[in-house]
Amino acid sequence: MTAAQTRGAELEDLILADPKRFRVLTGDRPTGRLHLGHYFGTLHNRVRLQNLGVEMFVIIADYQVLTDRDVADNLTGHVEELVLDYLAIGVDPTRSTIFTHSAVPALNQLLLPFLSLVSVAELNRNPTVKDEIAHSRQSSVSGLMFTYPVHQAADILFCKANLVPVGQDQLPHLEVTRTIARRFNDRYGAGAAVFPRPDALLSPAPLLLGTDGTKMSKSRGNALTLAADADETARLIKGAKTDSERHITYDPAGRPEVSSLLLLAALCQGRAPRQLAEDIGPGGAAALKRTVTEAVNEYLAPIRARRAEYAQDRAYLRSALREGNERARTVADATLGEVRAAMNSDY
Ligand code: TRP
Repeated sequence: MTAAQTRGAELEDLILADPKRFRVLTGDRPTGRLHLGHYFGTLHNRVRLQNLGVEMFVIIADYQVLTDRDVADNLTGHVEELVLDYLAIGVDPTRSTIFTHSAVPALNQLLLPFLSLVSVAELNRNPTVKDEIAHSRQSSVSGLMFTYPVHQAADILFCKANLVPVGQDQLPHLEVTRTIARRFNDRYGAGAAVFPRPDALLSPAPLLLGTDGTKMSKSRGNALTLAADADETARLIKGAKTDSERHITYDPAGRPEVSSLLLLAALCQGRAPRQLAEDIGPGGAAALKRTVTEAVNEYLAPIRARRAEYAQDRAYLRSALREGNERARTVADATLGEVRAAMNSDY
């Protein structure tokens, strides 16, 4: 077990024993509809934590969209789609706070003191940022690309979240957040901690591949989205990449595409992928795809039904977001007040 996994197991015990001691912050960039990779990677874990009684803030990171593109297209539409996805999977806006970056000025203001707490060398070293720069299609790298991990620290610390469910790629950002919390407390806290040092909660969920056999991703056109209808889902799965071996076996290293499909069906049915493979065996890729299609469509049916209902009620959707933004602003104002007092800039 890695250190992060050991810590994860410890945290699980603490959460079950006393959910009220945790405040979670998590979120997504509004760049398109959420897909099954997101769902089994983190979304269903968020709902689980919420339902255990953990307080949750869900950020729609609209400024962060601008890290790897010049203009965030169709922002209003993407934000609404994201809220719809959240509501459909069971995020409850009376218990959890759904909000957007740009609507919370005091959160954004934290960026300035936080930037003073990290060096340019540290910003340059962030492996996730490096990777994103390497894959960016922009001709030049913006300042926001380098500083967004610090912005993300503000996302987490404005509400003093102490638990952040993330995937592996977000761990460097969480380290930045912990560093900033520690340095702020050391420099300005006068012995008292203004900010907690949040823990990452690594999601145990394995990586799901898209229909082309590469990582499932909004931008690659290979994703099975929550919002798609049953027919579209069937069509996408029918076209999914497999391999030339007829007999179906579960072998993630040797047969990644077939194994990812098995895993997906298994996650939907709450079964072991190996067992599913044994059931399908000689049926081949056609039987596998039939099974996956049925499993996914059956699993998503209630989520999709709720999504369709909420899609009819845009007024409700907007009011959920408005109230979330209101709540986030109240919390951010209070934190900024403390920061001002600690920094002796409370005029
Ligand atoms: N970086 C995350 C993503 O790309 C979104 C995000 C923004 C986030 N702020 C955050 C995640 C704070 C966790 C904590 O999906």
